Amino acid sequence: MMFCLDFPLYLMESLKRWSSIYGYVAVFMFLTTVSKGSTCEAPSSPQCFRRNADESVYMCEWSMNMTESDVTFDLYFNETKFNIKKTWHEIPEEQLIKHRLVHIRVEAHVGNSSCRSLKTSVKLVDTVKYEAPGNISVSWLKNNLSLVWRAAEKYPALAEVWFRRDKHPIESWEKREMTTTISQTSMCQVIVANLLNHKAYQVQIRHQPTLARALNPLWSDWSQVVIVPGELEHKPEVTMTKTLVNNGRRVTLTWKPVQHAAAVRGVTYSLNDTQSSHGCPCRPVKNRDPISTTSYTTYVSYSAVNISVIARNAAGSSPPAIIQVPAESAADLKTCDETLLNVKINKTTCLEWYEFQDGDPRPENILTLSGRKKKKEKMQIRKNIKDYVRYLYFEHRCIRGKPRTVKMCLFYQKEGVPRREPQDFTAFSETHSSANLLWKAIPFVDQQGFLTHYKLCSVKIGSQDKQKECHNISASLTKYCLENLTPGTRYDVTLAGVTRAGEGLQANVTIKTLPEKPLNVWLSLGLLFVFFLMSIMFTFILKRIKNLMFPPVPTPVILDFTNHQPQNQETMEKEEKVHELTLHQLPPEHKTLLEDLEESTVQERDDSTDEDPENERGDSQMSEGTSDECLSPGSTEQVLRCSREDIEQMDELTMLIYRKGLVFDVKTDSPENGLN
Ligand SMILES: *[C@@H]1O[C@H](CO)[C@@H](O)[C@H](O)[C@H]1NC(C)=O
Ligand SMILES: *[C@@H]1O[C@H](CO)[C@@H](O)[C@H](O)[C@H]1NC(C)=O
Ligand SMILES: *[C@@H]1O[C@H](CO)[C@@H](O)[C@H](O)[C@H]1NC(C)=O
Ligand SMILES: *[C@@H]1O[C@H](CO)[C@@H](O)[C@H](O)[C@H]1NC(C)=O
Ligand SMILES: *[C@@H]1O[C@H](CO)[C@@H](O)[C@H](O)[C@H]1NC(C)=O
Ligand SMILES: *[C@@H]1O[C@H](CO)[C@@H](O)[C@H](O)[C@H]1NC(C)=O
Repeated sequence: MMFCLDFPLYLMESLKRWSSIYGYVAVFMFLTTVSKGSTCEAPSSPQCFRRNADESVYMCEWSMNMTESDVTFDLYFNETKFNIKKTWHEIPEEQLIKHRLVHIRVEAHVGNSSCRSLKTSVKLVDTVKYEAPGNISVSWLKNNLSLVWRAAEKYPALAEVWFRRDKHPIESWEKREMTTTISQTSMCQVIVANLLNHKAYQVQIRHQPTLARALNPLWSDWSQVVIVPGELEHKPEVTMTKTLVNNGRRVTLTWKPVQHAAAVRGVTYSLNDTQSSHGCPCRPVKNRDPISTTSYTTYVSYSAVNISVIARNAAGSSPPAIIQVPAESAADLKTCDETLLNVKINKTTCLEWYEFQDGDPRPENILTLSGRKKKKEKMQIRKNIKDYVRYLYFEHRCIRGKPRTVKMCLFYQKEGVPRREPQDFTAFSETHSSANLLWKAIPFVDQQGFLTHYKLCSVKIGSQDKQKECHNISASLTKYCLENLTPGTRYDVTLAGVTRAGEGLQANVTIKTLPEKPLNVWLSLGLLFVFFLMSIMFTFILKRIKNLMFPPVPTPVILDFTNHQPQNQETMEKEEKVHELTLHQLPPEHKTLLEDLEESTVQERDDSTDEDPENERGDSQMSEGTSDECLSPGSTEQVLRCSREDIEQMDELTMLIYRKGLVFDVKTDSPENGLN
C-alpha cells in the first residue's frame, strides 16, 4: 500500500488564479489514491480540456511510468467509465457533462494489480489547453528578440518565455510573461527586450488562453528549446578576383566566416548577380541554392554586373555585400555593323542595350532581350529601343553553361543630325593670315548619331568674293588653326557636327585678320634700325680684332730720361726681361773716344749737380760686381774708373729694350746730351 502524490505546480497556479477571481473552488483533490499490488505505480491525475475554445472534442491525458507493456486504464467521469489502452483519450462533447463540475480519475491495471490516480474536479467547458508552440522562428530587432509561432487561436494569449545564454547550462532560466500579438496570417509574436544580439541564446515558450477566452486556462506544454544564434550585423567581407576566360570572365569571391555566436545553428550564403536577375541567366535562377562554403566561383559576361552575397542564419540575414564588377573596358568601341535586334534569337543568346548618358553607359537603363523571354516580351523590348539614342550593345551567348560576350559595339537604332551646335565656339590670336578656333564637343545626348567629322566653313564679310571655303575636321578635335586668310578681312566662320544623317546645327563666330601694311612698315623700320646698330658694332669689333692680330709696328720714341732714378732702374732690371742687349764694340782708337766721353761725363757731372752722390756710389758698386768685362788687374781706382766709364758709356748710348716685341724702353742720360 502506498500513496502517490502528483500535484503539478502549474495546475496549482491556474487553480489559484481561477479560484481567487471567481471565489469558489472548482477542484477537489482526493488524497486517497489506492494501489493494489506491488508492480503498479499510480498514474498522474488526468487533465481534460479542449485545444481551443471553439473545439467540440475534449482531450484527456495523464502520465504513468510503465514498466509493463500490457497496461490498461479506466477513465472515470464521475461514475461514467471509459476503457483505454493509451495515456490519452479524445471524447466528443456529447458524451460528457460540460457545464457542471465533474470528478475525473484514472485507474491503471497492470497484470492482477491496479492503482488509481488523484481525482480532479473540473468544469470542462472552461478548460482550454493549447498545443505547445512549434516551429518557432526567431529574429533580432536590435537588442530585442522576436519570437513567432503559429497561434492556437486568433486571439491574443499569454505566453511565458524562459531564456538563458547558449552553452551556459548552469545559468538559471530567466523568465518573462507577456501577451502575444496576433498577425494577419494567424501567427503570434512576442518580443523579449534587452538581450545581447551578438550572443546566442536558448529559449523555450509555453502559452495559454487569456481569461477572456477560457475561465480555466491550462498552460500548454513547453516548446522544444530553441537555439537563437547571434545577429548577423555586418555584411560579409568579400574579396574578388577576376580573370578573363574565352570572352567571358571568371569571378571568384571569398569571404570570412561569420563570428561564432552567429553560426551556432549554421550559416548559409546566398549569392545573386544582376546579370541573371536582369534576365540574362545561363542557368535558371532557381538553381542558385544557398551555399555553406566561404568561397564561390561564377562566370559572368563582359557587361557590368553586381554580385551580392548575403549570409543567413536562423535569426535572420546579414546586409548584402555587393561586389561591383564593371563592364570590360570599352576603350576602342566600334560602330555596330549588324545586330540581332530584328532576328529570331535562341535560348542561349542574350542581347543587352546600355543607354549612354554623359558619355558613360548607365546600368540603370538597360534593355535585355533574352532568348528565354516570351515572344510578347521580346516585342515590347524591341519597341523600347529609342531612336537617336546611343547604346552600348552586347551580344552574349551561353556556351557550356558559361556566358560569353561575342559582340560589343556602339549602337543607334536610327541616327539623326546633331540637335545642338558645338559648344563655346570662339576665335583667338588672329594674325594677318590665320586664326585659332576653339570649341567644346557636342554632348552625347545631342549628337543623335555618330559624329563622322566637323564641317568648318568660312566666308568673307562685305566682299564681292562670296566664296565659301569649307574643311572637314576630325570629330575628335576641339581646336583648329584656320590658315591662308586675307589680311585685314572679316570672316564669318561656322562649325557644325556631321553624322551619317547629315549636318547639325551650326556654331558661329566672326573673326577679323590683322591688316598687313602698318605692321610691315614698322617691321622694316625696326629691322633697319637693328641693322644699323649691328653694323656699328661689327666695325668696332673688327677694329679690335685687327689691333689684336696685327699690332702696329713700334716706332722708336726717345723719351726724357733726366729724372730717371737708379732705384727705379734697379727694380726695372729685376722685373723686366732684357730680350736683346746691343753693345757696340769700340774700335781700336776707342781711347780717344773714351777720353772724349770722359770729358763729356765730367762736363755732365758738373751740369748735373742735383744728382745724389750716394746713389751714384751704390750704383757703381753694383756695376763693379756685375760687369766682368771691366775687371782688369789694375788698382781699384782703375776698376772704379772702368766701371764708371762703362756705365757712363751705357748711359750715353741709347738702349732699346724690347719687351715682348711691343713695348720698348729707352734709356738716355738726357735729351740734350744724347746722341742727337
Ligand atoms: C516516473 O518516474 C520518475 C523517476 O523515475 C519520477 O520522477 C516521476 O514522477 C514518475 N512519474 C509518475 C507519473 O509517477
Ligand atoms: C493473477 O490471477 C490469476 C488468477 O486469477 C492467477 O492465476 C495469477 O497467478 C495471478 N498473477 C499474479 C502475478 O499474481
Ligand atoms: C513546422 O514547419 C515545417 C516545415 O517548415 C512543417 O512541415 C511542420 O508541419 C511545421 N510544424 C508545425 C507544428 O507548424
Ligand atoms: C525593444 O524593446 C523595448 C522595450 O519593449 C522598446 O522600448 C524598444 O523600442 C524596442 N526596440 C526595438 C528596436 O524594437
Ligand atoms: C550595381 O550597384 C550600384 C550601387 O548600388 C548601382 O549604382 C549600379 O547600377 C549597379 N550595377 C548593376 C549592373 O546593376
Ligand atoms: C567632307 O565630307 C563629306 C562627306 O560628309 C564629303 O562629301 C566631302 O567631299 C568632304 N569634303 C572635303 C573637303 O574633304
